[in-house]
Amino acid sequence: MVIAIDGPAGAGKSTVARSLAEALEFTYLDSGAMYRCVALTCLEWGADPSSSGEATSTAESIEIGFDEGEVLIDGVPVTDEIRTPEVTEAASQVSVHPGVREAMVAEQRRLIETAPYVAEGRDIGTVVAPDSPLKVFLTASPEARAERRAAETGQDVTEVLAAQEDRDRRDTEREHGALYAADDAVTIDSTGKTADEVVAEIAALARDRGLA
Ligand code: DC
Repeated sequence: MVIAIDGPAGAGKSTVARSLAEALEFTYLDSGAMYRCVALTCLEWGADPSSSGEATSTAESIEIGFDEGEVLIDGVPVTDEIRTPEVTEAASQVSVHPGVREAMVAEQRRLIETAPYVAEGRDIGTVVAPDSPLKVFLTASPEARAERRAAETGQDVTEVLAAQEDRDRRDTEREHGALYAADDAVTIDSTGKTADEVVAEIAALARDRGLA
């Protein structure tokens, strides 16, 4: 069983999904980290992230793991390496390829069958787990999202905002796994709200639906 939290970059999904999972004693799945692992491997192997064939065979050649807060590629921790601006850009490029998405979605479905999960991403409620009993579409204004990302990475807000617009476009316009709210998703706008407030709101929904 999975609680799905989808939405654009910087809406607060990671913080919210992680603390919600902790509060409910569910396992947390960061699906974006998986696309980042494919991107990092492409960059390391000299494969072109914008080439469908090269990115797909890279995705099919690696094993992505999660262990006690660490993200692993073939058993090697890459938790910090996958957060650089270069990997962020390449992750956005690899995520448009249907072959990459197919490999990631299959692995995500396998994981969420094993235990109760809170999974965050772009297509959890629409593609990975359309039968999820609680889907949240978490959003925020573009400015608030860029400010959060800039505070995390130390980059300039204007620069983040421009790059974010490009990635938002790729997220919403790609043919496979495009970002949109599922019909039965509850939309929460996190602009001006603390992560704790959003977590409390979703935890209350989970309790109302008998999930926790
Ligand atoms: O959430 P994030 O910034 O870590 O995601 C990294 C990239 O992966 C981002 O460009 C969107 C993409 N992604 C996706 O296409 N589908 C998901 N379920 C999660 C992330």
